[in-house]
Amino acid sequence: MPDKMGFGIVGCGLVSQFHGAAINASDKTELIASADPDQDRLDKFIGDFGGEPAASFEALLADERIDVVNILTPNAMHAQFTVPALEAGKHVIVEKPPEMTLEKTDLMIEAAAANDRKLAISLQVRFRKSMRAIKQAIDEGRFGKLYEGDAFMKWFRPTDYYLMDDWRSKRDQGAGVTIQHAFHYIDVLHFLMGPVKSVDARMTNMAHPEVQLEDTLKAFIEFESGAEGLVEASTALWPGTPIRIEVNGEKGTAITEGEVFNTWQFEDDRPEDEAVMQIGRDSQVTGAGGAADLGYEEHMWLIEDMVAAIAEDRDPFITAGSARHSLEIALAMYLSADNNEAVTLPL
Ligand SMILES: NC(=O)c1ccc[n+]([C@@H]2O[C@H](COP(=O)([O-])OP(=O)(O)OC[C@H]3O[C@@H](n4cnc5c(N)ncnc54)[C@H](O)[C@@H]3O)[C@@H](O)[C@H]2O)c1
Repeated sequence: MPDKMGFGIVGCGLVSQFHGAAINASDKTELIASADPDQDRLDKFIGDFGGEPAASFEALLADERIDVVNILTPNAMHAQFTVPALEAGKHVIVEKPPEMTLEKTDLMIEAAAANDRKLAISLQVRFRKSMRAIKQAIDEGRFGKLYEGDAFMKWFRPTDYYLMDDWRSKRDQGAGVTIQHAFHYIDVLHFLMGPVKSVDARMTNMAHPEVQLEDTLKAFIEFESGAEGLVEASTALWPGTPIRIEVNGEKGTAITEGEVFNTWQFEDDRPEDEAVMQIGRDSQVTGAGGAADLGYEEHMWLIEDMVAAIAEDRDPFITAGSARHSLEIALAMYLSADNNEAVTLPL
């Protein structure tokens, strides 16, 4: 068996640079081949990151050197590549959201189970050191009873961003701040605070009249645990500031701004808390001002976790099943905003 696991890429657009850089940076993975009908994008990707151009998606699936396929196509084009890749015996990492409907997400989950393959969703913010520190403190009971979990994403995207590719301005294709940008932070709240019972959301278009989309979301969340939360997310707020995630419990509070903590305080303070306060202070990659304003480290953890999941025959850290509930929360927010009423889950 080769000492590096072979990877194939489907879709060489904006996000592919993070996957290409992450695969190349890891000593556990090798980029074998990539596919994209847009020849210019394919050529640029191969030029930047190496590997071979695949003649087609089918040719990529037939390549026995490839163990894992990364599906990086637009949001409503995930299942159509994920299901055949799993059926061809590949493990799959698919970009977020898993799909645009729960039904298509279920097809992907069923195909992974039926073919005994691993399926992970690229919700890499869960790997962020600060988020893992909060999760660990929650699991250790340091917060006591959880009261509140909030995400404030005040970003900016110019109208050009929405017009750059056809799908970016079409809601059914996966456009809109809720499903496209806030999704990571909706998912992180689910990861930290547990399953959601109900949502009450409002959506507006503040600064992008050229597109028929929400660029601003406000949502109230009731978690099954009884805790409550807020999501405020926008791409209308120039110049864009770092995300704030806030978790409060009866015995502790953690607040992150970008990758760093501005508050990390518990009734049972511990010597290691000082190190937690230093997390992320050497880098700032938040995506606040533009889509390329991100690092590839979190994608590398995602990719190396897939390698380990295959080797150890365990679930990947970010399963499609857990991402499905995050999708359900986001879809419930759309339903709530459309009907101007609170929505109870499951849908
Ligand atoms: N995890 C993150 O932080 C993050 C960041 C950005 C985007 N994304 C996600 O990544 C996905 C892609 O987003 P993007 O911004 O790169 O989009 P994009 O439009 O820039 O790229 C999508 C690519 O898919 C290609 N494609 C279309 N049909 C294809 C086919 N039949 N075979 C192969 N390729 C095909 C397109 O030509 C295009 O190059 C989306 O699901 C998005 O939500 C995730």
